[in-house]
Amino acid sequence: MALVSATEMINKAHEGHYAIPAFNTNNLEWTQCILRAVQETNTPVMIQTSEGAAKYMGGYKVVVDMVNDLIDSMGITVPVALHLDHGTYEGAKACIEVGYSSVMFDGSHFPIEENIAKSKEIIELAHAKGVSVECEVGGIGGVEDGVASAGELADPAECKRIADLGVDFLAAGIGNIHGKYPADWAGLNFDRLAEIKEAIGGKPMVLHGGSGIPFEQTKKAVSLGVSKININTELQLVFADATRKYIEAGKDLEGKGYDPRKLLKPGCEAIVAKAKELCEGFEAAGKA
Ligand code: 13P
Repeated sequence: MALVSATEMINKAHEGHYAIPAFNTNNLEWTQCILRAVQETNTPVMIQTSEGAAKYMGGYKVVVDMVNDLIDSMGITVPVALHLDHGTYEGAKACIEVGYSSVMFDGSHFPIEENIAKSKEIIELAHAKGVSVECEVGGIGGVEDGVASAGELADPAECKRIADLGVDFLAAGIGNIHGKYPADWAGLNFDRLAEIKEAIGGKPMVLHGGSGIPFEQTKKAVSLGVSKININTELQLVFADATRKYIEAGKDLEGKGYDPRKLLKPGCEAIVAKAKELCEGFEAAGKA
């Protein structure tokens, strides 16, 4: 099955009150593990790369070819969208050209007028090629690919202005944070989420910083219009933890335990297990 735009899967999730998991990938193994998890749980998925991760893997085209080839060689039948996460204006344009089926243009750090002008242009370019678009209003707390954001709560009136441009789904700060949540995190701000939902007329919304948010809160967010939940840190943590245990147990020193196919296996199994748990938790399993 070829890559698909995310519009249809997100709209279905919006109507059916579940959230599409959007997993960030970092390399070949990560991508294989995500695809295995979603195929085994029959989950529609968005696989996304930050610009930094795409560069790490050799560039946007390498990512497009890798994901397409894995879908083919693994016999993946669930819908898969390949999405650019937190794209710059230039990055979003490059990904639309090279075959990503969905892009995020993150103009949240620009003054609102500039965010609107650039978002409008990317939406037009993307839609002309059948590519879905996510835009962002207000920062998301934490560190986004090296750029710290103030993490303010998004302004509902600004959200409406971006939503009215015809964006397919909208990311807006509602107290969420990228990376690990601090012990004293106040939780998601559902009052602000409800205000934004009202302002944008029920357009699907995106929850960034999905790692570590209790399912009770993600479910409530879904009931208020969130239809895509981004996950990066959580898969990185389980991978690192399983790999550390393997090495600390001295397994890399036994036989050919140093072979990357053996060394990376526990981490990979941990990614598959965690991704499946999240597909279930977001109630997207079985929806492909
Ligand atoms: P986490 O790393 O906190 O899961 O956030 C991922 C994300 O929102 C990517 O845009």
